[in-house]
Amino acid sequence: MNVLVLSASPNKDGLTAACAAAAVEGARQASGQAEETRLNDLQVGMCQACDDGWGTCRPEHACQVSDDFQALHARVLEADAVVLVTPVYWGEMSESAKAFTDRLRRCEATRGNESGLADKPVIAVAAAGGSGNGTITCLLSMERWIQHVKGQVFDLIPVKRWTRENKLTTIHEAARAMVEEAKKSAR
Ligand SMILES: Cc1cc2nc3c(=O)[nH]c(=O)nc-3n(C[C@H](O)[C@H](O)[C@H](O)COP(=O)(O)O)c2cc1C
Repeated sequence: MNVLVLSASPNKDGLTAACAAAAVEGARQASGQAEETRLNDLQVGMCQACDDGWGTCRPEHACQVSDDFQALHARVLEADAVVLVTPVYWGEMSESAKAFTDRLRRCEATRGNESGLADKPVIAVAAAGGSGNGTITCLLSMERWIQHVKGQVFDLIPVKRWTRENKLTTIHEAARAMVEEAKKSAR
């Protein structure tokens, strides 16, 4: 089982990175293949709302703005499960998480039940390393995104600075359980 762990912070050793590492370790402990992909290391620009609002995303389920999106889109389609970890910025996903998920949603939500994420388990993690505010609004939009692309909301995990250690264990266990569950349903 191939788990794509997407992280969306510019910091390589902050709270978001620790959460992504916990997810990778948890998935691997259940014999899943997993590695972190840092969205901030890629060139994925924001949606251009082409033409009258829809470009090729609606009829062709592919984005016409050419950058690193296309390769990452293909990797999402190949993955069996996804973990999306974002720092909380203003109670929302970070800009890199938003840019990627917006474009992916246009391509996959428009396929309805044929979405490349249909029934794939997704864990969303919102890491609020400042005031600790905004995890719920952030997770709300992440949940809505998962539902739009027809994924399975496997878990939604809020993290604050002061719950870091407990939540790293929670993320590890959630990723492990996600792989175990997927293995059971593949039998
Ligand atoms: C633009 C911006 C907005 C932020 N907004 C919030 C917020 O609403 N709530 C919060 O707890 N922390 C907020 N923070 C702090 C980040 O959530 C914190 O830096 C986060 O842990 C970043 O993860 P990192 O350690 O992986 O960079 C914000 C940080 C930035 C840069």
